[in-house]
Amino acid sequence: MRHLIDPLDFTVEETQELLSLANRIAANPEAYQSVCAHKKLATLFYEPSTRTRLSFEAAMLNLGGSVLGFSSADSSSASKGESVADTIRVISGYADIAAMRHPKEGAPRRAAHYSSIPVINAGDGGHQHPTQTLTDLLTIYRRKGRLNHMTIGLCGDLKFGRTVHSLIKSLSRYEGIRFVLISPEELRVPDYVITEALTPNNIEYVEMTSLEDAMPQLDILYMTRVQRERFFNEEDYIRLKDTYILTGDKMALAKEDMAVLHPLPRVNEIALTVDDDPRAAYFEQAQNGVYVRMALIMTLLGLKED
Ligand code: NCD
Repeated sequence: MRHLIDPLDFTVEETQELLSLANRIAANPEAYQSVCAHKKLATLFYEPSTRTRLSFEAAMLNLGGSVLGFSSADSSSASKGESVADTIRVISGYADIAAMRHPKEGAPRRAAHYSSIPVINAGDGGHQHPTQTLTDLLTIYRRKGRLNHMTIGLCGDLKFGRTVHSLIKSLSRYEGIRFVLISPEELRVPDYVITEALTPNNIEYVEMTSLEDAMPQLDILYMTRVQRERFFNEEDYIRLKDTYILTGDKMALAKEDMAVLHPLPRVNEIALTVDDDPRAAYFEQAQNGVYVRMALIMTLLGLKED
């Protein structure tokens, strides 16, 4: 049985197969509407979510399956002190596959250890978010037609942003990738991302504080929200939250075929006027999340196309 806990749980080849399946689904969604008939997905969300939880639900419903679950720790037995190990053992008897989001790093891995159904990590604390990475890869692939040979700027909260950690890990396996890491000093990428992903793969990267200076060289700009819920004090959050705001002026410095991604939710870091720029890819990215999760559910359940 397979789980998806870390972005590296799927090889580059398996990732490519999954993205190809997601593309076929996007081209002809009707053909997949009964693939998961009589299958159930459990969404175990101990932390807030809009896109991730609802896109998992939409994905399972689009495949003809059904969904059960909870959307906050308060409404589950976690509030009574139940461990994720016990919860998943019980859920294994209620559903065929589970997606778990948890504030504690490593919780989905622990759940997978006790589970008899596939477990998908839907975000664990400030650690990893592998299904967002699949969404990001699909969006880059659909925009650029490739996942190699490009310069990717990641901007904002690179310290607590789990989507950033997973995307760097995954893209570090492709050829000719170069990262421009744009953040305030306090929110630089954690050392483990550098020592585990960038250095061993000989990936070229630069750390910068100016978004303007980075703009002209980027093929992809990945904007992120400052992760308020992971800060130890509100003052630091308030001081750092508006460090980067992507505006039309800054977009004017970028390549004509650059793509702007953002995992969403956006707070203030992309001006609304940028939404109308053809390079803004973040809403199609959210839509791609449904296709890629459909492909993932099918793959983990071992279900083939008709
Ligand atoms: C991200 C997350 O939860 O890490 N959102 C998402 O899943 N689309 C990014 C964020 O919350 O800023």
